[in-house]
Formats: sequence, structure tokens, C-alpha cells
Amino acid sequence: MKLFIKHALCAVAVIGSATFVAWQVHAETNRVKFPTNLDELVHYTGRERGDSVTHIKATQTLIDTVKAGKPVPPGSQFVLIDYRDGKLYRYFVMEKGVNWGADYDEARRTGDWQFQWFWADGSVNTAENTSRCQSCHQGVGDRDFLFTASEIEAFHGTPVN
Ligand code: HEC
Repeated sequence: MKLFIKHALCAVAVIGSATFVAWQVHAETNRVKFPTNLDELVHYTGRERGDSVTHIKATQTLIDTVKAGKPVPPGSQFVLIDYRDGKLYRYFVMEKGVNWGADYDEARRTGDWQFQWFWADGSVNTAENTSRCQSCHQGVGDRDFLFTASEIEAFHGTPVN
């Protein structure tokens, strides 16, 4: 079964001699699941920017694995919870699975990680194309695509900012 939909060509209009091609980038569902263990996750770092406050979380086991310099195992999730004006706004989730990278072209791939944007009610943001997540996180490919790897290392029970 196909688990995701690639960019779709939505409209091609030919007016006179000019051709207008409108690409609408559709969102895609992928293999990332909404986390089922939010209560167990440990808040190890976060950010405050304007009216946004984020809490970045993972299981203690995963934090210990990264601290020990071991590879992140399949089945792992990192969760970024974004609050706006004190209210839960959205969840950014990255999840790794066996050979999940093969779902994408090599240029887009982020190892075996996939990314997803969930709204506060757990639904997928159907206006987002998660290739944007991947393209930015590719910048930290040498740290297993994790921007907060150094915060995990520095975490000893109190969130590191
Ligand atoms: C423009 C660059 C950029 C884009 C696009 C982006 N991220 Fe990130 N992401 C970051 C940075 C930088 C951090 C570190 C925390 C911070 O600064 O907010 C981060 C942190 C995270 C984390 C915490 C784990 C880690 O890497 O440290 C998750 C999970 C995450 N992003 C998921 C997503 C998802 C899902 C999307 C797309 C919907 C996305 N990101 C899009 C730059 C980006």
C-alpha cells in the first residue's frame, strides 16, 4: 500500500501563448504516528520565541541512548510540542523506522527518519509538505538529523535551554 502521496500537479492553464503551471504542494500522510506515550516523555529542552514556547521531549531511554553515543534505534520518536500564548498549538514529530528512508528519493532522505506535523487534536496538518522538515534537518545529518543533540548530552534532569 502506498503510504504517502507525492507532490501533485494541480493545475495547468494555457492562456493565449503563455503557459501557467500551478504546482500545489499537497500534504502527505506518512509512517509517523501520533505519539501514544506523551505522559512518559521527558522534557529535556525547549525554546521561547515571541508568543511560542516549545517543549522538546523523548523517552528517558532514548535520551540515555543518545548520551551514550549509541545509534537511535528504529521505533524512536522525538516530539516538539509548541504552545502559543499558553495554549497547545501543534506537535512536530520525527520518528525512525527500519528502512523508512526508502520511501523517499535519495536527495530528500533523512536517514530512516520521517517527519510529521500534528495539530493539537492529533490530526495531520494537510497543508504541510514534510519535505521542508527534511530539507532543514538534513543540515544536521552528521548528528543523526537532530538539532538538539548537544542539549541531550547536557541534560541532567532540568531542561536545557
Ligand atoms: C528551517 C529549519 C527547520 C524546519 C523547516 C523544521 N525544523 Fe525541526 N528543528 C529545527 C531546529 C533549529 C530545531 C531545534 C529546536 C529549535 O530551535 O526550535 C528543530 C527541532 C526539531 C525536533 C526536536 C528534535 C531535534 O531535531 O532536535 C523535532 C521533533 C522537529 N524539529 C520536527 C520537525 C518537523 C516535524 C518539521 C516539519 C513540520 C520540522 N521540524 C521543520 C529546524 C527546522
